[in-house]
Amino acid sequence: MNNAFNSWQNLHQDRINKFLKKKLDKNNSKNTINNATTYALLNGGKRFRALLVYAIGEINATNQNKLDYIAASIEIIHAYSLTHDDLPDMDDDPMRRGVPSCHIKYGASQAILAGDGLQSLAFEFLVVPDFNIDDAKKINLISHLTKAIGINGMVFGQSLDMECSNKEIDIKLLEKIQSKKTGELIHAACIMPYSISNFFDSSVRDSISKLAYLLGQLYQIIDDILDSTSSSEHLGKTSGKDKKDNKATYVTIEGITKAKKIKEKLYSEIKKLLKKIPGNTQTLNHLIDKIYTRDY
Ligand code: IPE
Ligand code: IPE
Ligand code: MG
Ligand code: MG
Ligand code: MG
Repeated sequence: MNNAFNSWQNLHQDRINKFLKKKLDKNNSKNTINNATTYALLNGGKRFRALLVYAIGEINATNQNKLDYIAASIEIIHAYSLTHDDLPDMDDDPMRRGVPSCHIKYGASQAILAGDGLQSLAFEFLVVPDFNIDDAKKINLISHLTKAIGINGMVFGQSLDMECSNKEIDIKLLEKIQSKKTGELIHAACIMPYSISNFFDSSVRDSISKLAYLLGQLYQIIDDILDSTSSSEHLGKTSGKDKKDNKATYVTIEGITKAKKIKEKLYSEIKKLLKKIPGNTQTLNHLIDKIYTRDY
């Protein structure tokens, strides 16, 4: 991995963390729900979805100050999804990002509310006047995000995921679950920044869209592989949980060897698709490699 990309990654992880912190500090008073929300959002995380927003923005040199609001809204939704995913009635995971999960620290009721609060906060970031783009573009962004995360998107995927635990399902249904629970938000992280580009082109949009769904699949299959091959300490969340909970994943259904083969295939398909996208895709190319080689 080249050094210039590593510096870009550090710079932009820092950028989104500072942006989120500054905005939260401005709004928040110190009370339980604000503390729980801040804990769930600012307690680490790789920020890959925010990095995707910035990398897609680089294709057509989109203004970074505008991308900040999109990156923030996506990371806030992601933090909400993880907070709820960890709850006792969901995956029941006591550890997240190397620290006690939100419900362990604040109790399940506050963690549910923190997730709810994060969800509305994400949309606040897309409508604030400081986010200086046309109202029509803002509405378009909101429309993308609501579709991606709602009952036909991420929440649908999470619902299927819970419903299919302890069940034998086929690969087609597994693909659907993963594309909904993980793919839709990653898709939004790619399409939302492109939708505000001044050089919008619908055939490029289609290529980005295809690439984004494949990347979502790659992201989740790596998560599934790591769950079965890495330690809780390294992952910062409980490992070996998918097997223990009888979750439907590529590893539990197809086995680790096949899962790794599918991972390779997805990666090469993504790299092929990337070549079809005009503009400056260098950073996106490195970011895809980083996602492919991630080990936590
Ligand atoms: C974990 O996502 C949940 C999945 C959808 C695979 P990440 O691995 O991106 O989690 P953080 O944000 O870095 O903690
Ligand atoms: C989580 O998938 C997907 C969402 C939160 C939408 P997982 O349940 O596999 O994520 P981890 O392994 O807990 O991070
Ligand atoms: Mg889950
Ligand atoms: Mg989970
Ligand atoms: Mg997992």
